[in-house]
Amino acid sequence: MELKTLTLNGAAGRSDILIRRTLIGEAAERCLAVFAPSRVHIVTDSNVAPLYLEMLAKQFALPVTSTVLPAGEEHKRLSTVEGIYHDLLKAGMTRKDLVIALGGGVVGDITGFAASSFLRGVPLCQIPTTLLAQVDSSVGGKTGVDLPEGKNLVGAFYQPRLVLIDPNLLSTLPTKTVADGMAEVVKYGCIANREILDMIFRDDIQEVVSECVRIKRDVVQQDEHDTGLRMILNFGHTIGHACEKLENYVGLTHGQAVSIGMVAAMRLSNELGAPEDLTPPLTAILQKCGLPTELKHDREAIFEALLSDKKKFGATVNFILVRKFGKADIVPVEAGRLHELIRKI
Ligand code: GLY
Repeated sequence: MELKTLTLNGAAGRSDILIRRTLIGEAAERCLAVFAPSRVHIVTDSNVAPLYLEMLAKQFALPVTSTVLPAGEEHKRLSTVEGIYHDLLKAGMTRKDLVIALGGGVVGDITGFAASSFLRGVPLCQIPTTLLAQVDSSVGGKTGVDLPEGKNLVGAFYQPRLVLIDPNLLSTLPTKTVADGMAEVVKYGCIANREILDMIFRDDIQEVVSECVRIKRDVVQQDEHDTGLRMILNFGHTIGHACEKLENYVGLTHGQAVSIGMVAAMRLSNELGAPEDLTPPLTAILQKCGLPTELKHDREAIFEALLSDKKKFGATVNFILVRKFGKADIVPVEAGRLHELIRKI
């Protein structure tokens, strides 16, 4: 199968993103074409380690060490990053050596942040193993951890020099984890290319992943530091994050929350002048992907959670609206007006 190569030119350097089935089998070769390390440290988690850690480590004719994190979002915190720093020091890692993040979004975010800050920055390769990480979090350089006050409150923009995406890795995922990533895939269909909404059901996952990554690359390249266009990647996330928060981050997965949030955002899009109601087709697609679509939470609680999440924007919340599949608009909505709208949806 043909190798797909995408390059993202970030402010602090380029990121090459390679996509092809079976790519993990040549990961070391691909890394050594780009990096010149004396040693490699792989960070992964307890779900992924038994599947791929040994196979990846054995490919390098160099000293390889690893950190295996306990799986789960609750470990995405500063103390975990500190543990990685200690492991990197123990391994004798220098600024020339290579850190590999092998795992889903949580592993990628934590490892990316550790790599961005250890010795003020060490080379990083992301090998994402979930659909969500392959189409979203491994690309674009957002890294970070949660604080008790909220998600992703500490972090850095740090582009991985190399991202290796092997869609075959998705075959070992539980159905629920694939559905989680599908929410982000549907998001790309809504905001940038409606074709994706048909591609999903054509059973060519490499084609789907490649198109989502291309869109993400294009958006990030225009707005790496998330001050404008990149906000469109948050379609469904504003209300989604509010739902996640109301569920204490355990009742809903991120993808489930984004799915519910996208349907709610589509209702808002209708209220704010969409020419045609796209809520029924969007709901049908999400349900076919095994995702929930009904916003069950109290509207006042949603509004409060949403405002606290967005307090940095002051009295206005930037809402991402889709009035036509394949095109998103960033619309500032004043808090009082938003309160009215949330009560209606
Ligand atoms: N996941 C949204 C972004 O990378 O901006």
